[in-house]
Amino acid sequence: MLFTTASALVATLFAGLVSAQTPVGFTPAVEAKLEVIYGTKATIEPGTGFTKTETARQPTIGTSDVALNGTYVWLLIDLDVPSNFQNPSSGPRRTNLHALITGFKFSGQTVSVAGVSNPIYTLTSSSTGPITYVGPSPPAENPPYAHKYVSLLYETPEGFTVTRQQVGQTFGFNLTTFVDTVGLTAAPVRASYISVAA
Ligand SMILES: *[C@@H]1O[C@H](CO)[C@@H](O)[C@H](O)[C@H]1NC(C)=O
Ligand SMILES: *[C@@H]1O[C@H](CO)[C@@H](O)[C@H](O)[C@H]1NC(C)=O
Repeated sequence: MLFTTASALVATLFAGLVSAQTPVGFTPAVEAKLEVIYGTKATIEPGTGFTKTETARQPTIGTSDVALNGTYVWLLIDLDVPSNFQNPSSGPRRTNLHALITGFKFSGQTVSVAGVSNPIYTLTSSSTGPITYVGPSPPAENPPYAHKYVSLLYETPEGFTVTRQQVGQTFGFNLTTFVDTVGLTAAPVRASYISVAA
């Protein structure tokens, strides 16, 4: 009985780990997947690898379970910027905000992408900011170190706005401070991440 309970607990823990769409150790952990499509290539599993060239232009984002019916802000954050570029392994890694774009809504359309079984309900925004998309460009390191880029989607209330000033610095971007500043108190509704090598 005890053994069964322990096994069930372990199974539950593993299920939790396997289904997280955010990187291990990232807060907040999010289980619902944001589909991120660069060209014709989607994020199949958490941490799917992409090249700099593939990610040069802003991806299409969406959902493959249900069409979302609200309004959303999308953030893309590099989690692995070295504090010391000369000696990357000498210090902690920091964040860099690569996109923060408001006004995403369901486009009314779906796309089908290899590797994702359901059609993807795409989201679009006529906005490009306040932080316009900048493609990943991780520096070469020895040994090589792929950077993790986490995408977060937050639902925003009616009339939500955010100024460039409220975002703060992109390098060392602090998500906790940001969501506090702009009043996004609810957890992100979707997330995923990709890996990009130099
Ligand atoms: C969006 O969908 C949710 C869940 O299906 C529903 O509860 C909510 O009322 C919907 N919101 C709008 C604005 O249609
Ligand atoms: C972000 O800011 C909060 C509140 O000021 C602070 O507690 C936290 O350590 C900061 N996080 C990082 C990664 O600097």
